Amino acid sequence: MFESTQPMPDAVVSDIYAVSASDEIIQGLSTHPAYISPKFFYDAHGSALFAQITSLPEYYPTRTENAIMAIQGEAIKREAGVVSSLIELGAGNCRKAQALCALLQPQRFVPLDISEEYLLEATSDFREKLPGLAVYPVACDLTQAIVLPAHIPPEGRLVFYPGSSIGNFDPAHAADLLRRVRDLLDDDGALLIGFDLVKQVDVLEAAYNDAAGVTAAFNLNMLQHVNAIIGSDFSDDDWRHVAFFNPVHSRIEMHLESVAETLVSWSDGERHFAAGERIHSENSYKYRTHDFVNLLAANGFSRSTVWTDAQGWFAIVLARP
Ligand code: AVI
Repeated sequence: MFESTQPMPDAVVSDIYAVSASDEIIQGLSTHPAYISPKFFYDAHGSALFAQITSLPEYYPTRTENAIMAIQGEAIKREAGVVSSLIELGAGNCRKAQALCALLQPQRFVPLDISEEYLLEATSDFREKLPGLAVYPVACDLTQAIVLPAHIPPEGRLVFYPGSSIGNFDPAHAADLLRRVRDLLDDDGALLIGFDLVKQVDVLEAAYNDAAGVTAAFNLNMLQHVNAIIGSDFSDDDWRHVAFFNPVHSRIEMHLESVAETLVSWSDGERHFAAGERIHSENSYKYRTHDFVNLLAANGFSRSTVWTDAQGWFAIVLARP
């Protein structure tokens, strides 16, 4: 039985930045060292740049995850069982969910993303490609409470969180997010999640320092998004992209580094940056499989089935409460 897909012009907006975005940014800029949450990468332009990153030759996670999904599709389908609602976290352009919806045939698709504009565009494309499926987009910030539309039945939910986006949360916040996902599910629910594996440092670092400079543009675009939110005067010319693997924390770190001494101002504040001073813009944690399975188990998902690629670069797990 398909639900009506019309009319559904808008996303439900679940209080995207429940903590004021400008307060959050200004607080991070006032800290030493300064930081800006990676969620501020994703204005419409940042989301489009991220979509470009996913097809770069150096950026192995997306194509490796896609290959695992393609090869293991039938096994994933068997493990997932009957899925009535597919809920995708950080849906972006919703491309991965199109293939999964075709495989699992849910009755409804609920994509969640922080960029409302980008989400609406992606879901209209989705509706054209899979016209029989009911689509209920929700614009929301995963660092805040996740509230689904009230009519989504609790049974038969599969939460899909691909792309190793969980790696952008530090371990404590990843644990918190997993517990909140668990709370969205009945006992028959499941989580299908991708995570990136520890591997040779040169492979990891190349993925975040692509030759075409798209990752650099993605990192720098955050400053324009921040300018739009807090009215600051960051100029791209004053900053450069830096990314490296930190083996102590098992994570890629991205930073914006000032190329010369710079003063950044906004309506009621300013911050002086010395030449070479950095703003920490992202962590991307790389896991060992057993550590990730333990993280799941400690946060409400005690049964896991894991699939990986032949090189052991990326993994997908179907986890049940
Ligand atoms: C969204 N996330 C999983 C990406 C990653 O690899 O951590 C974001 C990204 N940052 C730079 N390149 C891609």
